[in-house]
Amino acid sequence: MIEREKIEEITRQTDIAALIGQYIPLKKVGKNYRALCPFHSEREPSFYVSPDKGIYYCFGCKKGGNAISFLMEYEKLDFPTAVKKLAKELGIEIDTTKNLKYKELYDVNELATQFYTLCLSKELGRRGRHYLKERRVDVQKLKEFKIGYAPASGGLVTYMRQKGVALERLRKAGLISAEREVFRERIMFPILSVSGRVVGFGGRGIDEHIKPKYLNSPETPIFKKGNVLYGLYQSKQGMRTKNEAMLVEGYFDLLSVFQYGIENVCAPLGTALTENQAALISRFARRVNILFDGDVSGIKAALRAIGLLINAQVDVFVTVLPQGSDPDTYVHEYGVEDLKQKLSAAEDFFHFYKKVVSTDTVEQEVVLIKDLIKIINNIRDPIRFDRYLKYAAHVFDISAETIKREMSATRTVATKPQTRLEITPEEKLMGMILNAREHFPLVKNILKPHDFTEDGLRRLYKIMLKEQDFDIADVADSTGEVLKEKLLSIIMKEAPISRQALLEALVRYKSGIETKKIEAKIREAREKGDDKAWSQYQKKLNDLKKQMLKINWDNVGASSGL
Ligand code: GTP
Ligand code: MN
Repeated sequence: MIEREKIEEITRQTDIAALIGQYIPLKKVGKNYRALCPFHSEREPSFYVSPDKGIYYCFGCKKGGNAISFLMEYEKLDFPTAVKKLAKELGIEIDTTKNLKYKELYDVNELATQFYTLCLSKELGRRGRHYLKERRVDVQKLKEFKIGYAPASGGLVTYMRQKGVALERLRKAGLISAEREVFRERIMFPILSVSGRVVGFGGRGIDEHIKPKYLNSPETPIFKKGNVLYGLYQSKQGMRTKNEAMLVEGYFDLLSVFQYGIENVCAPLGTALTENQAALISRFARRVNILFDGDVSGIKAALRAIGLLINAQVDVFVTVLPQGSDPDTYVHEYGVEDLKQKLSAAEDFFHFYKKVVSTDTVEQEVVLIKDLIKIINNIRDPIRFDRYLKYAAHVFDISAETIKREMSATRTVATKPQTRLEITPEEKLMGMILNAREHFPLVKNILKPHDFTEDGLRRLYKIMLKEQDFDIADVADSTGEVLKEKLLSIIMKEAPISRQALLEALVRYKSGIETKKIEAKIREAREKGDDKAWSQYQKKLNDLKKQMLKINWDNVGASSGL
C-alpha cells in the first residue's frame, strides 16, 4: 500500500500533458490539449487533456481520470504499478508505511483475504475444500480470485490480533458484528475493485442449513454493491481484447466459466444490475452477452439489464440456457465447447425481448412495443438506431413515423431525461466546487452534507470534508462510475471560477433549498386551512427573497461570517 499523500504528490507533480503526449500526439487548443481518443475509435478528436487540472476526459466514450488512471487504462497496469512508474520518473521515493485514507479498510480486507485463503489450504479448511471439489471448482486455476474459507470455529479475530489489528477496524470493515465473526462455514469470495483492491466479500454457506445461502459484506465507505462487479478485475483484460463481456448472475457461474477459459465474464453481487455497473462494463467492452438462467427470475433480470446496458451504449445479446440450468451447471454438464457454441449463437436483445414477453392480448402487445421502442430510443449509434427502428416497424407492422412520434412523445413526458450525462444543478455546483479547490475552506462553512440530495454527491462531499486533497479520479469505489464521469466532464468544460462567483453560486443554492422548504410549509398550511401559519411562511419567503436581492455580492463572505 502506498500512502495517500504520496500518491497526491505524484499526480500533482506529473505533467499529464507530457505524459499522455508520449503515447499519442496532442494538439494544443487554448489551455487544453486535444487528440483522437486512444480508447475508442473516432474520426473527430473528442479526447481532452487539461494540464491545469491534471485530468483527461473523452467526451465521446466518457473515459477520464488522472495520470495514474491513464497509465492503468493505456498500459493496462494495476494501480500500484502505475503509481510506481510515475514515481520513478519523478524520482520520488515510495514509502509504504504511513496512513492512506481508507487504507485501514483496504488493509483489513487484504489481511482477511490472507486469513481465509490460508484456512482453505490448511486442516481447518477440509470441509471447504471438500465443498469446492464437489462443485468442481479448481482453486489452482482460479488463483487470482483468492478464494478462501471461513471455518466454523472462526479464528479471524485471533489472526488479526496477532497482526495488531484492533477489533474496531474489523467492525468497520463489516467482518465482525456484535462481537461475532460474520462469516463462518462459508466459501469466501473476495470482491475486487477495478484497480484490484479487496473492497468486500461474498460468502457461500457450505451446506444447506447455513442461512442465508449467500452473504455479502455490508456496505462500507469503500464497498457499494451497486458500484462493483464480481470478476471484473480478473476479466477486464479479456473484455478489452475481445471487446465483449459475458454477464452472469452468480459467483459460481462466473468461476465455472472462467475456469474453462472464458476469461471475459463478470457478475453483479446478487442484486439487479445497476446503472453504475452498466457504465463500468461499457468502459471495457462494446458488446455484452447476457447469460442468465432460463427461469422466470433470470429472464426478468435479463430484461432489466438490457435497458440499462443499451443506455450505457453497448450492444446487447442474450444467451438463454435451458430451464433449470445455470451457466455453472451447464458448463459442467455439457462442456465448454457446447457453451461457447451457445454463446456465439446469442440473440440480439430485440429478438430475445420479443420472444419472452407474452403477447396473448392486444394490450400486452402494446406494452411490449412501447417498451421496446423506449429501449431503441436510447441507442445513440445512428446506424444501429435506424436499423432497429426500421426493424421494429417491420416486425410490428407499424410505420416508422408512428414509432418516431411515440419516441418524441415519451421523451417529453418522461419526468427525468434518460440521457446518461444529463447534469443536475447540484452536480453542477459540485463541479464548481471541485474547480475551485483553493476556496474549499469557504465552502465548508456554508454547505453541509445534507444540502446535497443525491447520495453519491453527499458521500463525495463527506470524503472531501475529511480529506482536502482527495482525488476525483479515485473516488469511484464510493460514488460510482456515472457520477465520476459527469463530474469529470464538468471539470473539463468549466473554467476555474473566482471566489466571488463560487460564493454566489453557493448562496443561491442554499437559498434555493430554503425556498423549497418554506414553499412546502406554505402548501401544508394552505391545505390545513391554517391562515396564521400561511401568512407567517409567506412573510418568511418574502424576507428571504428580499435578503437575496439585497446581498452585496462584492462583500459577501468578508462579512456575515460566510
Ligand atoms: P448456487 O446455489 O451456489 O449455485 O448459487 P446460484 O448462483 O446458482 O444461486 P442463485 O441463482 O439462487 O443466485 C444467484 C446469485 O444471487 C448468487 O450468486 C448470489 O450472488 C445471489 N444470492 C443467492 N441467494 C442469496 C441469498 O440468500 N442472499 C444474498 N445476499 N444473495 C444471494
Ligand atoms: Mn448455481
